[in-house]
Amino acid sequence: MVNDNSQQSGISLNELSSQMMITAYTGFNDKYSPMDKQTGDWVKHNFKGTMIRVNRGGTDLEIPVDQLQEGDSLLKVFGFPANLEKLVKVSNGLIKELEKRGFTEFEVKKIKQRTPEQQEKRKQSVRKAEDLVQKVKESVEIRDKASKAVENLMDSGRQGKTNTSEILGFVDSIVSSSSAEAITAISSLKESDQTYAHCIDVGAIFQVVYLKAIEKLGVKSVFKDEQEILLSSFLHDFGKAKVPKEILDSTVRFERDSKEMQLMQNHPVYGAEMLTAMNMPSHIVDMAHYHHIKLDTSMASSYPKGVNFEDISLEARMIAIIDIYQALVGKRSYKKSWAPPAAIRFIDSLAGVEYDLDIWNEFMQIMGRYPKGSAVELNEGSQGFVISVPEKDLDRPQVVVVRNAKGENLEHHELIDLEYEEDVSITKELDNYETFGDNVIEFFTSLQVI
Ligand SMILES: [Fe+2]
Ligand SMILES: [Fe+2]
Repeated sequence: MVNDNSQQSGISLNELSSQMMITAYTGFNDKYSPMDKQTGDWVKHNFKGTMIRVNRGGTDLEIPVDQLQEGDSLLKVFGFPANLEKLVKVSNGLIKELEKRGFTEFEVKKIKQRTPEQQEKRKQSVRKAEDLVQKVKESVEIRDKASKAVENLMDSGRQGKTNTSEILGFVDSIVSSSSAEAITAISSLKESDQTYAHCIDVGAIFQVVYLKAIEKLGVKSVFKDEQEILLSSFLHDFGKAKVPKEILDSTVRFERDSKEMQLMQNHPVYGAEMLTAMNMPSHIVDMAHYHHIKLDTSMASSYPKGVNFEDISLEARMIAIIDIYQALVGKRSYKKSWAPPAAIRFIDSLAGVEYDLDIWNEFMQIMGRYPKGSAVELNEGSQGFVISVPEKDLDRPQVVVVRNAKGENLEHHELIDLEYEEDVSITKELDNYETFGDNVIEFFTSLQVI
């Protein structure tokens, strides 16, 4: 039963039921107006962390409970912190206690009754969220090490050597430990460098999106196995091995016609040449060659020139989208990173102009409008991480709440499924670092989902 107008006020003691949650105490017996010192101290102690409304010398004030003074008349207690759950969850024990203490009237919220199927689905969702948290924990290190392997490969490529054995080792371990989904979530949570971790994040996202998209589109994979899918995307920027490291790691943005920019813009051609020389299959070569081609090839940001968009493979079109998405979300040294939902909205506005619209739509269905790991604020003021991609309404994913509306970190983190909680919605996306500081990964991996 879903009741989206569930807030009720003026509820008396004998109207309380276990299907209600108290949101405020609003009626009190005589000893609370005015309060003597003993009563005031008792209120301060037992309602620690709440807000109160009092009448003080004829004026109504809303203040934190610890500012209560002797002589105040209590009008309302509200804003209960999570650790006072026992004072808001209605039970027979609580009703008796309320009566004894002289609390007579309340504002309540009806608790929605879940059907057995909904309860089962919720259990599964909690389990899935726990699995993702665990997998992210396990995958942070592999992502870092794989990024280092990409750097080593590019460094050796700069000296004319191309030994792929180290990177192939990571390809194998990511596939065998099924870490691509977790690395995709890490890419939402954590910044990347602009060259190496970028390749790993692009690779993980590509693997996740490609496999799901071709299944939906009923298209056959051009790759011989999952390992090759990852390898192809890890190598999309391999041509950067021909670009001097000072340019790659530069913290300044180069002028459009500068020598540095020309070198950078040659990386797709360099990559295609090197991968061809390494006898890589043509679909891998093409992804490196064409991942910067725009639907409108006349744009300055579309290179190399002289290519028709119609001739470009689905794989190259898809990696072009994932490449720009990761570039926005991963932090560049010369710009701030974008929150994943903002990056999604931005590319959505360019789809059909710069990017293949059909492939973009598949990408968005799979990643969601709020990719897993995005930090968001809910309409009730609490903050949390998106933990799922909804099947129906992309604006209503599952969110694990980590902070209450007062900005306090919670001990246990409730999973809220916006598909069912009709009165809760996402009001804004948050910057992970501004919101959770540099330890955002530690924050995420210590979630206790309930
Ligand atoms: Fe590139
Ligand atoms: Fe790239």
